[in-house]
Amino acid sequence: MAASTQPDVMDKLVSLCKRRGFIFQSSEIYGGTGSVWDYGPLGVELKKNLKDAWWRSMVRMRDDVVGLDAAILMHPRTWEASGHVAGFTDPLVDCKTCKGRFRADKLDDARCLQKPSKRPGEAEQCQLTEPRSFNLMFKTFMGPVEESASTVYLRPETAQGIFVNFLNVQQSTRQKVPFGIAQIGKAFRNEITPGNFIFRTREFEQMEMQFFVEPGKDMEWFEYWKAERMQWHQSLGLASDRLHYHQHEGSELAHYARAAFDIEFDFGGTLGFQEIEGIHNRGDFDLGRHQEYSSKKLEYFDQPNNKRYLPYVIETSVGADRSTLAALVNAYREEEVPGEDEGRTVLALKPVLAPVKAAVFALTKKDGMPEMAKKIAGDLRLHFPVDYDETGSIGKRYRRQDEVGTPFCITVDGESVNDGTVTVRDRDTLKQDRIAATALRDYLNERLGG
Ligand code: GAP
Repeated sequence: MAASTQPDVMDKLVSLCKRRGFIFQSSEIYGGTGSVWDYGPLGVELKKNLKDAWWRSMVRMRDDVVGLDAAILMHPRTWEASGHVAGFTDPLVDCKTCKGRFRADKLDDARCLQKPSKRPGEAEQCQLTEPRSFNLMFKTFMGPVEESASTVYLRPETAQGIFVNFLNVQQSTRQKVPFGIAQIGKAFRNEITPGNFIFRTREFEQMEMQFFVEPGKDMEWFEYWKAERMQWHQSLGLASDRLHYHQHEGSELAHYARAAFDIEFDFGGTLGFQEIEGIHNRGDFDLGRHQEYSSKKLEYFDQPNNKRYLPYVIETSVGADRSTLAALVNAYREEEVPGEDEGRTVLALKPVLAPVKAAVFALTKKDGMPEMAKKIAGDLRLHFPVDYDETGSIGKRYRRQDEVGTPFCITVDGESVNDGTVTVRDRDTLKQDRIAATALRDYLNERLGG
C-alpha cells in the first residue's frame, strides 16, 4: 500500500455528514448499531446520484449489458456452490484480558483495548487465543421453525444472483456472448474489524456487473473493463493522482479469480490508498460450480459456430457506500474566501453527484422578493432538486450551500423584481452572472450535465 500524501479529513466529514443530514449512525438513540449507517435526506440523494451514474454508464448507455434485481435471500445451496460456506472466513483471535477481537492476519494494523493501546499481543498482559475461522455470512431462518434445515444467509455479494440467473437472462433477452448482467443491491458481511465510517460496514450496497465471454477472449475483456472502470471513477471527479490499480498476486487472489486488480483511492491520513472496486477474471468457476451443485446445464449455445461452452466471467464490483465516501473525501475542502474574514468549507462535488443542484434566495423578506424566489424555486424543482432559503445573511446562506456541495445559488434582489433578472453564483469560481430568470433553466442545464 502506498503512503498517503492527502490530509485526514475523516473526522471532519463524519461530523459534517451528521450535522447536515448526509449520514447518521443506525439506531443512534439506542447507542448505535456497530458499523451500520443510515443515509439522511442529503446522503440518500448523493448515493442515489452515484448509483444512477453507474447504472447509466453500465446499462443504459450500452446494448451489451442488461439489468437485474435479484433477491437478497437465495437457496442455501448457492453459498455452498460459490464457496462462501466453506471459505468466506477471516481468522479471528480473542484477547482474554481486554476482551478485544481481532483479525489474526491484520494484527499489525490493530490496537488493543487496553491503555496505552498497543498492537494486540504486544503488552505483557495480552492473552491471545489461537486463531479460529469465523464465517462472515449473516444467518437467518426461513419459515417458523428455527432448525438447520431452514437456515438461509443474507447474501455477502450480489454476484451470485447474477450467476444463477445467467440462462434466464440470456434466453429471455436473446443476448449473445459477449454480454453482461448488472445489478445494484444490498450485501451483508459480519466483518470482524469494520470501521472508518462507511468504508467497511456490515450492511452495504454493491454495484456489480458480470460480463460473460468466450474462453480465450477473457484477458482481452479483462483489460477493457479495467480501463473502463478507472475512467468512470475519473469521470465522477475523483482526482487522477488519488487513484491507482493494485494487482492481486499469489495468496491475495480469491479462490475464484484467474486475475484480479483493485482500483484504489487515496482516502488520506492513515487510511491512505484503499480498494474501492475489484475487477476480477472469474473464469468459469461460478457457472461451473452452480452447474455442478444444481445439476442443471448452464452452458451457452453458440449457434453460428454450433458449439456449447461455459462462458468465462469478467466481474466489476464496486461498493456504492465506499464510492460515496471516496466522493465526499475527494470533494472536501477548507478554503479562504477572497475579501472575507471567514473561510468556508466546501464540498466540490461534480454537479451530477450534488444532492441539491441549485438554491434560491430572496435577498430580503419584502418587496415581492420571496414571492418571486419561491416561484423560481418551484419552476426549477420540476427539473432538479432545488432548495429555497430566506433566513440569515446572504453570506451565511452561501456557506450553508457550499458545505453541502450545491453548485449554484440564485439570488432574487430589488433589481430582480423590476427587470426580471437574478444573480447566479458558481460554487467553485465564486463568480456571479446576472441573467434573466427565464433563462435559468437552460443556463443551469448546460452547467449541471458533467
Ligand atoms: N463479488 C466480488 C466481491 O464482492 P469484494 O472485493 O469482496 O468482491 C467488492 O467487494 C466491493 O464491495 C469492494 O471493492 C468494496 O467497494 C465493497 N465492499 C466490500 N466489503 C465491504 C464492506 N464491508 N463495507 C463496504 N463496502 C464493501
